[in-house]
Amino acid sequence: MQILTLFALATAALAHPPAALAYSHHDHIGVVTKPYLKAGRTDSRSPCPLLNTLANHGYLPHNGRGITVENIGDAVLAATHWSSDFGTIPATNAFAGLNKTVIDLEDLDTPAGTEHPASLTRLDSPADSNDLNMWRLNALLGDSKTSYLNVASLAKSRNRVDGLSPALTAAQESTSQAEAALLLTLMMDGGVPAAADATEAFIAGSKAPKNRVRAWLKDERFPIAEGWKPSTRLVQFADFSPFSDAIKTAQG
Ligand code: HEM
Ligand SMILES: *[C@@H]1O[C@H](CO)[C@@H](O)[C@H](O)[C@H]1NC(C)=O
Repeated sequence: MQILTLFALATAALAHPPAALAYSHHDHIGVVTKPYLKAGRTDSRSPCPLLNTLANHGYLPHNGRGITVENIGDAVLAATHWSSDFGTIPATNAFAGLNKTVIDLEDLDTPAGTEHPASLTRLDSPADSNDLNMWRLNALLGDSKTSYLNVASLAKSRNRVDGLSPALTAAQESTSQAEAALLLTLMMDGGVPAAADATEAFIAGSKAPKNRVRAWLKDERFPIAEGWKPSTRLVQFADFSPFSDAIKTAQG
């Protein structure tokens, strides 16, 4: 219901787009206050680079254990200044699939926890999806001939990894497109505008610098040294769906 409400609001807003972007990345004042500490051998980690990053910075328990939906929502908001919905909506879905109210991050590494084949940076099951595959990361970066990833390169990447795996279900395909859009929107220069302000040209021109993407996914740390900052604008769940739609369209 909440998702439907948000999408309905976004659609209504898109009918009357304002003339100019109200947001500029020069307004950034956000800072990551919690230091990065690489995961140790006994720490629990997931197939999700953002959840692992939140644990590595201590926004989630560093051992990755005993985590609730609310913990995830709070951690997303505190670290990124994106709405807690970005944590609670996917987490509610995954926890329901697992039939759990408290999880260790590694519990997400099953289809019930929304893990799926044809990941951008993980091998298919039965390999451990909690660990990055360097070959897949390099191929993801190699799909763009420029110094950044964008909608076009991510669509190319999605089609490439889809071709390496058994066909995804329709739900898994749209989850995968959403994940590709989350990658772009979290890493891109300039921050995420309100859905109503995200013109087609703006979306097509959005750039996630490769060095920033590489540092995030490889180390599972917020790539502050590479220019990443938390959003100053509170990003709403509906704001990333135009990016997800654009990736889907670009996949052909
Ligand atoms: C701002 C919030 C989030 C961002 C930016 C984010 C980002 C991503 C990205 C980029 C991937 C794709 C990794 C790949 O294909 O190699 C991914 C995968 C995944 N995420 Fe997240 N995520 C977020 C929130 C969540 C939440 C709240 C959950 C659930 C508790 C979750 C669970 C997963 C899972 C299970 C996968 C693995 C899917 C697969 O098999 O590839 N994510 N996430
Ligand atoms: C879900 O977990 C609860 C508590 O552990 C258990 O009683 C219940 O049978 C489980 N339900 C399903 C559908 O597995």
